[in-house]
Amino acid sequence: MYSKEQIIANVLAGKSNVVQQEKGAVYAPANIALCKYWGKRDRTLNLPMTPSLSISLAQKGSHFAFEVLNEEKDRVKLNGIAIDAQHDFYQRLFSFINLFRRNDEPRLNIDITSTIPIAAGLASSASGFASVVKGLNILYGWQLSCSELSLLARLGSGSACRSLWDGFVEWQHGSRDDGMDSLGIPLDLVWPQLRIGLLLASSDKKSISSREAMAITKQTSPLYSLWPEQVAADLAMIKTALAEKNFTDLGEASERNAIAMHATMLEATPAISYSNAKTAAWVQQVWQLRQDNMPVYFTQDAGPNLKLLFLEDRYTDILQLFPDVEIIKPFSV
Ligand code: DP6
Repeated sequence: MYSKEQIIANVLAGKSNVVQQEKGAVYAPANIALCKYWGKRDRTLNLPMTPSLSISLAQKGSHFAFEVLNEEKDRVKLNGIAIDAQHDFYQRLFSFINLFRRNDEPRLNIDITSTIPIAAGLASSASGFASVVKGLNILYGWQLSCSELSLLARLGSGSACRSLWDGFVEWQHGSRDDGMDSLGIPLDLVWPQLRIGLLLASSDKKSISSREAMAITKQTSPLYSLWPEQVAADLAMIKTALAEKNFTDLGEASERNAIAMHATMLEATPAISYSNAKTAAWVQQVWQLRQDNMPVYFTQDAGPNLKLLFLEDRYTDILQLFPDVEIIKPFSV
């Protein structure tokens, strides 16, 4: 078993943690998994049981600005509001940043703005940790590649290793105990017509974190033993669908993968369900629309919100059918 500190020392081999740039601002997009990461083989290093594949959400993500402070304490603003050291977010942020600082130095003034609701199953921690490692890369002048930053971001939150790139990213789960082969790999393809619709059922903090939920599922759900096979089949179908621009296959495999992940949770002890009445109604609506020949699919993460998958030519229909939907265009081309 390796510690986070050992892995960081490996990735940063020979690089210093002396401040090179006192001020900077970076951005990382959130990502939505089409084939999910659910369950770890190493909880310290966030090493997954299976590979996963995501699409980044372009302008939806985290802006991270920092400035070195000549003061006793760090300062943090989250979405424009100052938060103190008792705040969950503050603690999670600095337990990560302190893996890289020496004796909590330098003190930092940090401003994080998330353009996606925090902790509502909308992948805010993924873009958050990815933006932090990008910020540290500037602060310390490491000049690390996105792949190296992906290894570091994973130590904050697994899905963050996919948020270093735009577009489709596969997280190769790897087999090494030190996780040096467990990182995001961007796929060299674009799908300009693809759209993601965000349906917000609640922006409240989730009742149980994905971290805890996936651990309980892995330990107690009889269905979990089938999960790796499910992922292998869905991932293969998604990758072929992407290469061939076959939207039906992409939608079917992505939706099936999300349903399978939630099924593993329902079989856990205690049972875990992230859906609420709105989620259930939208799922029924999507299924009905498909019966009426409308190509729209959904995916759902560890929260009640639903993400619709559809193509550009259905933009107006989707807006009419789901008036509160927020539509994302993952590719700017
Ligand atoms: C359902 O990356 O938040 O969104 O590694 O414990 O921080 P930790 O978990 P996290 O889990 C994300 C789970 C998911 C599926 C996915 O994004 O692949």
